[in-house]
Amino acid sequence: MLLIEELRHITIDGKKYKRKIKCFCGQRLNYSIVSHIKNEHPEVWQKWVKQFIKLRSKGWSYKRIMKTFSINGKPLFSWTVIEREVKRMMEKDTNLVKLPPMKNAKIWYPKNFKLERTTVWSFPRRGSWAVHRSDYRGNWAPQVPRNLILRYTKPKELVLDPFVGGGTTLIEAWLTGRRSIGIDINPIAHEIAKHSLKELEDLARNFPGLHLAPDIKPLLILGDSRKLIQILSEYGYEEGDVDLVCAHPPYFNSLRYTENIEGDLSHINKLDNFCKEIYNIAKQLHLLLKDEGICAVLIGDVRKNKRMVPLGFRIMKEFENAGFQIKDIIIKLQHQDQSTQFWYRNNNLDFLIAHEYLFIFKK
Ligand SMILES: C[S@@+](CC[C@H](N)C(=O)[O-])C[C@H]1O[C@@H](n2cnc3c(N)ncnc32)[C@H](O)[C@@H]1O
Ligand SMILES: [Zn+2]
Repeated sequence: MLLIEELRHITIDGKKYKRKIKCFCGQRLNYSIVSHIKNEHPEVWQKWVKQFIKLRSKGWSYKRIMKTFSINGKPLFSWTVIEREVKRMMEKDTNLVKLPPMKNAKIWYPKNFKLERTTVWSFPRRGSWAVHRSDYRGNWAPQVPRNLILRYTKPKELVLDPFVGGGTTLIEAWLTGRRSIGIDINPIAHEIAKHSLKELEDLARNFPGLHLAPDIKPLLILGDSRKLIQILSEYGYEEGDVDLVCAHPPYFNSLRYTENIEGDLSHINKLDNFCKEIYNIAKQLHLLLKDEGICAVLIGDVRKNKRMVPLGFRIMKEFENAGFQIKDIIIKLQHQDQSTQFWYRNNNLDFLIAHEYLFIFKK
């Protein structure tokens, strides 16, 4: 079924990287038609983007939308093209795309949860209790912040996540009775986190078994963590107020979180510059943390231009330079990292990266 008129007059021949596309205007193109449509038929592209947004708002996945832009079963472009366009529009106006409807959560706490005891952690299935969802790419399994919060804080103490993404840490902090602050620069992440926390609050109202103390409702801030101290002081916080930091920064530029947001660390292309910004944030985290407080950082190594970038060790050094002392190094196994698998297959690498580091620093 072709929903879009122009698709009737486009043809695709050949396979994969050798494919040839004939546009409805007669122009023949190698492999991709996207830049041609954007430049030569901008009104058509705009119409298509509107269609992406309309379908996304109905809760369709990017892959499913991609299928409606196929010709005889061959997708005209990849789903990442669609994702990029939708994100670009949403960053400008987060109301454009409606988030999927409330989930009817019935399980509030992980079953048979035990604190980790060794320096190797593995969660083959990311937790899906309460309102945890997997729709923020690059989020961490809720088991990670839950372990950190339960091990290093007491009820009512304050947890800070300077890269809060979809809000995983804040959900866990509220469920475990801790106060929390989460900051992220990405307006889409902010919307997802806001949505999940609201969902949690609404569901808890009708569920007598779950008590979410209103006085410890998480504080969610849309902002740039390079200005952490300034931002937190506007909310009345001072140096030494934080009991635990749970930080999960971008893995350099391996996954771009936003399209057009100034200050997003995942846009930085020089490793030294990325590390400088991490150092600057680590310094502020050090000041905000109480004496002897714990700062946990999850980060993985990356491959760039077929070379290994030992990002984990670089970041560890930056935190040490900022005044922290390394207390523990935990290896967290990585499951289902498709991006590394792609690289592995296509670049004849010997090994697939299957671990991340969880550094436990002490002030
Ligand atoms: C690895 S993700 C964190 C995911 C999070 N742990 C979760 O469960 O959803 C890294 C986050 O850092 C954010 N980020 C990038 N630059 C930032 C900055 N300057 N200030 C605050 N957040 C930033 C990105 O938007 C992204 O959400
Ligand atoms: Zn054309």
